[in-house]
Amino acid sequence: MQAIKFTAAILAFGLTAAASAGAAPQAGITIDTAHPGPVINKNIYGQFAEHLGRGIYGGLWVGPESKIPNTRGWRKDAVGALKALHVPVVRWPGGCFADQYHWREGIGPRNKRPVKVNTNWGGVEESNAVGTHEFFDLVDQIGAEAYVNGNLGTGSAQETAEWVEYMTSDSQSTLARLRAANGHPKPFRLAFFAIGNEAWGCGGQMTPEYYTNLYNQYSSFIHASHMPTLIASGGNDSDLAWTDYLSKNLRGNGGGITFHYYTLPTGNWEKKGSATGFGEDQWFSTLKATLKMDDIITRNVAKLEQNDPAKKYSFVIDEWGTWYDQSPDANSGILQQQNSLRDAVLAALNFNIFQAHADRVSMANIAQMVNVLQSMILTEKDKMVLTPTYHAFKMYVPFQDASSLPVKIEGNPQYGFGNEGIPMLSASAARGKDGALYLALVNTNPNESIEVAVDVAGGKAVSASGSVLTADAMDAHNTFSQPDAIKPEAVSASASGGKLTLKLPAKSVSVFTVNQ
Ligand code: AHR
Repeated sequence: MQAIKFTAAILAFGLTAAASAGAAPQAGITIDTAHPGPVINKNIYGQFAEHLGRGIYGGLWVGPESKIPNTRGWRKDAVGALKALHVPVVRWPGGCFADQYHWREGIGPRNKRPVKVNTNWGGVEESNAVGTHEFFDLVDQIGAEAYVNGNLGTGSAQETAEWVEYMTSDSQSTLARLRAANGHPKPFRLAFFAIGNEAWGCGGQMTPEYYTNLYNQYSSFIHASHMPTLIASGGNDSDLAWTDYLSKNLRGNGGGITFHYYTLPTGNWEKKGSATGFGEDQWFSTLKATLKMDDIITRNVAKLEQNDPAKKYSFVIDEWGTWYDQSPDANSGILQQQNSLRDAVLAALNFNIFQAHADRVSMANIAQMVNVLQSMILTEKDKMVLTPTYHAFKMYVPFQDASSLPVKIEGNPQYGFGNEGIPMLSASAARGKDGALYLALVNTNPNESIEVAVDVAGGKAVSASGSVLTADAMDAHNTFSQPDAIKPEAVSASASGGKLTLKLPAKSVSVFTVNQ
């Protein structure tokens, strides 16, 4: 067996194969290519863009008159980066904002739209410059599907039905003609439509019973020749009651039931922990907290299996990611945070979890795409920077719509901190749409590399090539003055006797193509 060969760039991290030979913990992986599992829905790599802080205004939308290069108001740099990320679906306009959003205020000439106050997020003025037409233009420019979140909290069944008619009708109805008069004669392609958001909280403090009655009422009046997949707003964190009740009592043809889970370093909403400048205690606690996602999905999916064996409903995690104390330099109420190597490792752990549940998890939307919480992109005026999380998403692109493959890990060492531990290695494999074999590996340990012997059951590996994301510091991040402080580097390895040995640096994410 031959140890992995890092490129010159990787050697710059001081991680020479020779330097750590013999010292690294070891594990074994077997990929079963003969028994492919379910297809990994590309929509688990979905995004979320809310009218919150600079998530839309400034970060994506600058307006057609801006000096910042834009296409019909959407900034070219951000759209180009998101297109390169193969974003499959974007959720909009919220979040909590969705339940205060009235779609009629966001159509027609922009200078005539009413200015409102965004009471959820900072009490700032909402110009309504970005409305339905602008949103569909954005997803068209990115090449993504549209996931629109309807207003259950302050809306009505009629307003909801009419919005869907406005977006989708190919008739000559007054609403379809209004859409044409506003510049879009053809129906928009609406792939997903949610009825409310976090109905247990900001969406109206409802019980599952009350929400379900409203969902059944609202959904009864939604008609379209190309019906969007309807999404019901479900539970949060470790609460199973919503999934349980909804999957028994929702009426209609099925669709998705949502779930939200945010990862906080401390678990305390009053003092969540900082995005950078943290110690190993919070590296560990954050990764440990995010691994709870596996248990959350397992227990919710068990409820779905029990109540909905026909699989009418899938599980949609339409908000997830890290939530830290707000950046000290950001205005209050706008949830802006930095993004470091820790976020990328955490994202990859979640990808591996979602992929392991590909059978029933049909979509996930990280919160949020630009400038808010765990973002892909940060902007400041005309400057833009890609985050480590962006790089993790890009590395996993080959897994979109790939066929999952069973992976067995043997002898997975623990990464211990204090009296606790988490698995050091996380892995996921799939046969890509291009026929190639992909293997994603995460080393959670910030102090030690790990040597992984990879066996392809029923076949022989010849070599592997791909990329690795790591850095010296746990909180390595990109800034406007150093936009490439952390980015993936190329990596390759050759096999001996059909087996590969891959050495994964401490605190790293790697994605390989395994050549057979
Ligand atoms: O993503 C930020 C907020 O978190 C969303 O608006 C809300 O749905 C959740 O509580």
